[in-house]
Amino acid sequence: MAVIIDGKALAKKIRSSLKVECDELKKDGITPKLAVIMVGDDPASKVYVRNKSRACNEVGIEYQEYLLDENTKQEDLIDLIKRLNEDKTVNGILLQSPIPEHLDINRAFKAITYLKDVDGFTPSSVGKLCIGEDTFVSCTPLGVIKMFEEYNIDLNGKDVVILGRSNIVGRPLIQCCLQQNATVTVCHSKTKNLKEHTKRADVIISAIGRPKFVTADMVKDGVVIIDVGINRDENGKLVGDVDFENVEKKASYITPVPGGVGPMTIAMLMHNVIKATKEQYNENSTF
Ligand code: GUN
Repeated sequence: MAVIIDGKALAKKIRSSLKVECDELKKDGITPKLAVIMVGDDPASKVYVRNKSRACNEVGIEYQEYLLDENTKQEDLIDLIKRLNEDKTVNGILLQSPIPEHLDINRAFKAITYLKDVDGFTPSSVGKLCIGEDTFVSCTPLGVIKMFEEYNIDLNGKDVVILGRSNIVGRPLIQCCLQQNATVTVCHSKTKNLKEHTKRADVIISAIGRPKFVTADMVKDGVVIIDVGINRDENGKLVGDVDFENVEKKASYITPVPGGVGPMTIAMLMHNVIKATKEQYNENSTF
């Protein structure tokens, strides 16, 4: 039986230590502030955004939401981002994705100053991550790395197989795992013989968004399983990408859904907002 990686408990522990850091900043007259922009009313985004606002509340970070109409023009979105870049009371800016299709999300991300890029999505942050410089790391990959640290899962020399190549999860995870000296393979919708890759993996990180995609016959005994998927099954129940019940029997460690990676993502956003605030007030910052 696998050790269940308790992301919910770890995230709670991280939030309470961030609260201490936030209280310290407040003693110096600094209140960290996160600005969240949402365009349109995607139902899943509404849930994510509500969870982010709750976490800010718990840590003591000020939270400001900008809800834009689904017909918002690109220039108006960019103007708002520019205003928030200039606003010294705002320390972090997050543009919730997805946004309506008539808008160019990469152009919008690019407009966010890298100093406030708490999602780690701007080209500057991504580039710095690739060359191993200190930067904001995308929250889900950062949360996954924190889980490895907490559970003493050493990636040094391990075969890590990442399923999915999204800009938010798969791609930054490549860099994060490489930094830990893993041998990294990325599989995606065009990968041939997927099972050959997953079967030899010491660690599988799945971020593809398909319920029960990773089955017990695809993994070896003792594998570490990180399930980033958030899906609904045929009964409307929240499930990950992994057939948890059967894969758990072969794994050494496994994350549940819910209560695994999800809460860690939000805790890492809080971490990035505190980091951004400290960097912005650090006269010697080389960020
Ligand atoms: N949509 C789904 N996940 C995320 C995330 O981590 N950040 C943003 N900005 N949008 C998302």
